Formats: sequence, C-alpha cells, structure tokens
Amino acid sequence: MKEFGKKALTLNIERDRFLKEQAMERLEKYRETTSQDPFRMQYHMIPPVGLLNDPNGFIYYKGEYHLFFQWNPFETKHGPKFWGHYSSTNLVDWQLQPIALAPSDWFDKNGCYSGSAVEHEGKLYLFYTGNVRDENGDRESYQCLAVSADGVHFEKKGPVISVPKGYTAHFRDPKVWKENNRWYMVIGAQTEEEQGCVVLYGSDDLEQWEFIGRLAGTSQSNEESFGYMWECPDLFSLGDKDVLLFSPQGIPADGYHYNNIYQSGYFVGKANLDKGTFEHQEFVELDQGFDFYAPQTTLDSGQRRLMFGWMGVPEENEAFHPTLEYEWIHAMTIPRELKLVDGCVYQSPVEELKQLRENAVEYKEVTIRNQFELDNVGKLAFELMVDILSNSSKQFTIWLGKYTRVIFNQAKNRLTFERKSIKTNEIEARHYKIEKIDKLHLFIDASSVEMFVNNGAKVFTSRIFEHPDNRKVTFEVSDAMTIDVFTWDLRGQ
Ligand code: FRU
Repeated sequence: MKEFGKKALTLNIERDRFLKEQAMERLEKYRETTSQDPFRMQYHMIPPVGLLNDPNGFIYYKGEYHLFFQWNPFETKHGPKFWGHYSSTNLVDWQLQPIALAPSDWFDKNGCYSGSAVEHEGKLYLFYTGNVRDENGDRESYQCLAVSADGVHFEKKGPVISVPKGYTAHFRDPKVWKENNRWYMVIGAQTEEEQGCVVLYGSDDLEQWEFIGRLAGTSQSNEESFGYMWECPDLFSLGDKDVLLFSPQGIPADGYHYNNIYQSGYFVGKANLDKGTFEHQEFVELDQGFDFYAPQTTLDSGQRRLMFGWMGVPEENEAFHPTLEYEWIHAMTIPRELKLVDGCVYQSPVEELKQLRENAVEYKEVTIRNQFELDNVGKLAFELMVDILSNSSKQFTIWLGKYTRVIFNQAKNRLTFERKSIKTNEIEARHYKIEKIDKLHLFIDASSVEMFVNNGAKVFTSRIFEHPDNRKVTFEVSDAMTIDVFTWDLRGQ
C-alpha cells in the first residue's frame, strides 16, 4: 500500500459516494427554487445550488472546454468544497457534468480547494489543495492529484506535496503547466513571517515534485511588504513577456486602488524556471469593479490565453445577497481572452460570445445634447457597445437601471461605476483614472455588469441587483457627444 508521510493512501470510497449523492439530492431538491430567482443569470455559469467560488482546472481537453469550480453544494456559505464541473464545445453553452471531487478523504476532508488541470498521455490530471483541519482545528494542506481517462470520472491519487519548511499551512492553489519538456507548478503561499508569496516546483513525471524556489514574494530581496497571503497564482507567457497572476490578501486601499477586501492582479516580467526567480514590474490590478477574484487561465488549441474569474470576493457582502433565498450564490465571469498590449494585460470577451447575440440594433452617429434613451434594451440580458466619436461633454452618464450607472468625468479624468449596495442600500462607487474613453463594451446579465473599457485596457466587473422593471439604458450628457451604439439581446442557456 502506498503511503504519504506516515499515512496510508487508502481512499474512503463509501464516503465519497455518500457525499456526492447527498449533493445531487440537494441539487434536485432545489432545482425549482433556484430556477425561479429573477436574478438568476441567463448566460453566466452559476452553481446549480449552494455556493460557487473560484474557477478551477480550466482546460481544453479532447475537443472540449472543461471548467471546474469551487462548490459548496450544501450551503450558500463557504465550507468543505467540492469540485463541480461544467463542459462546453464552444465556451458559450455549458453542460453540468458529474461532480469531479468530493472532500471525502483524510487529506482533503475539509475541502478540495482550488487547483488546475493538465493533459498527459491522453489523461486528465487535476491538481488541487486538500484542506484539512486537525483535531485542534489547526490547518494542514496537501497538494493532491486526481486522474481521469475520460475527463468525467476522477480517481484520487492522494497528496504529492506537503508544506515545506519556512511556510505556514496557507499553502494552496497549485497551477501546473508544461514547458521545455518539464512540468512546473506554482503555489500560493505564506512565509513563516506571514508574507504572501508564490513558490515554484518542478517535476518530470507529475508525481515526484522538487521545490525550485520562491518565485515572487515580499520577504525576498527586501521588497516592501505586499500582503500576508497570495492565493491562486498562474504563470504564463503572453506576447514576449511572462505574466504572473495572483490574488493577494492584505493590501490596504490606496486612492482608487485596492478598494475591495482582496485583490487580483499581475506582474509582467521574465521568469527563470531553472532558478525559480521572476524579474518583474509593479503589481497591476486586473479589475476595477466590485466583484472579481481568483482568475485562472488556460491556453486553448488556437493558442489563445483564455481566462475565467470568480464574480465575487471572499467574505464581501455574502450575507446580504438577494439570491440566498433562492439557495444559490455567486457566478463566474464571461470567458475572456488576454493579450499583452504596451506591456499591460488587456482583456476582451471571447469571439464565441457573439453566438449569444439576438435582435441587433444600431444607432449610427447619434449626437446627444441632453438625454438619449434606448427603447429596445433593458431586458435581463444584453450587450451594449458604445463607440465615442466625439465628446465635448464635461461629464457623461450611462444609466443601466435606477441605481446603476457609469460616469465619465472628463475634467477629472475619472471613470466611475456606481451601484446600490446590498449591504447598506447606499450608492457605492469604484473609480479609475483615465484620460480618454473611446469605447465601452458592456455585458449585462440578470444580476451582473462586465464593462470593458477602450478595448479591454481596463475592466469593471460587478454584481447588480436592479429590479427588472427599473432596467433601461439612458445616456445623459452635459454638452454634445456623438456616438455609435450597438445593442443585442443575449440569449440564455
Ligand atoms: C480563493 C480561495 C483559494 C482556496 C479556495 C477555497 O477564493 O480562498 O485560495 O483554494 O478559495 O474555496
């Protein structure tokens, strides 16, 4: 019998079956309830019941996209996570698959936490963090492996890495990839000095892993402290550079930046995988909205770098979500393609999303002097593209509902997104400093807005809970502005 540490690698098959059955029972029990929510998303992935958080194991495998997700099927709260599973041939229509992983074994009993997928010899390998609380409630973490021959049924192989010396048990979210005939893994970590960092491992066979080094992190080379924990790292090449995405925790708000409790962003630089080092520039936030965290990417067969994010942030507003009474909470973002433009990561909605479009309407060269209302949109799910041809307006506003709006203040070079807080019922705002807006591209769903600014140079991702009757799109300007507007209804799944 194989062992890890001093513990036998026996699997608790019965408990695994029991947990998966219980989860499916709950899904059946609440199928009707979740489907009745007026805020239920039309074209975004949401949990079939319970709580969804991070995207996991995003991969193009045997002709299909697979996206796994952190899932607590039993409650609309965080808890022992499962890996739920969606698959798709076109990135638009997603099928729920059988549960991939349940927290049934001694090495993952308090949660099959986030991780990634790779293909090897035709099989799908999942790497994830086994989250464990010992008898005293202290945390243990194991980086674990599960393998599947068909992409649907997974067999756990148990832990392959335990926490090395110098790090706390906040050691999780393995992201694996292949480069120059070797396997590599980045893991989000915390040093014993409680500094966030990312470590690098290497392997020749996906089972034996060697610690290479601390790739990036605050207690290295006397950099200033940058958070107490970095979650969900992802390292990949983009254009002629390397990008390290991660989600740091413990960064204080700074003007218009870092206003959510936790952030997600990236370093651009050059990684040395032999030495385990990464020369990089300053951290850049990936999103300026209220609800974006823990993104993960994959490279598809067309060599596109695709990304999903979680449309939520841990701990923020979770007790106040209007969807709780319908037994579900949180959603994924739309899939986005990443490109490096002038040294920055640009995000754009994937081309495939055009397949959702229905009822195209366009308004060409409209000069607005006061107000302009679109009478054809404002339904639950639609896409809105605004090309700004000229703008002499000191301030323009796009209302997306009674409380939700986008404001560009040209005098202050400030772009703002406002919504009504579900916690306080007050209006709350996120801002970004920008000199000129040429284009705004918005994806609106029953309870979300994703706004791509100037071809994806910046993105604002937020949940909104506007009553469907209040939804209409109105432009307001202080002086003349000329725009092209394109709108489409977006079909549901
Ligand atoms: C990020 C995260 C990960 C962890 C997972 C648990 O949201 O905290 O670090 O693996 O969620 O659900």
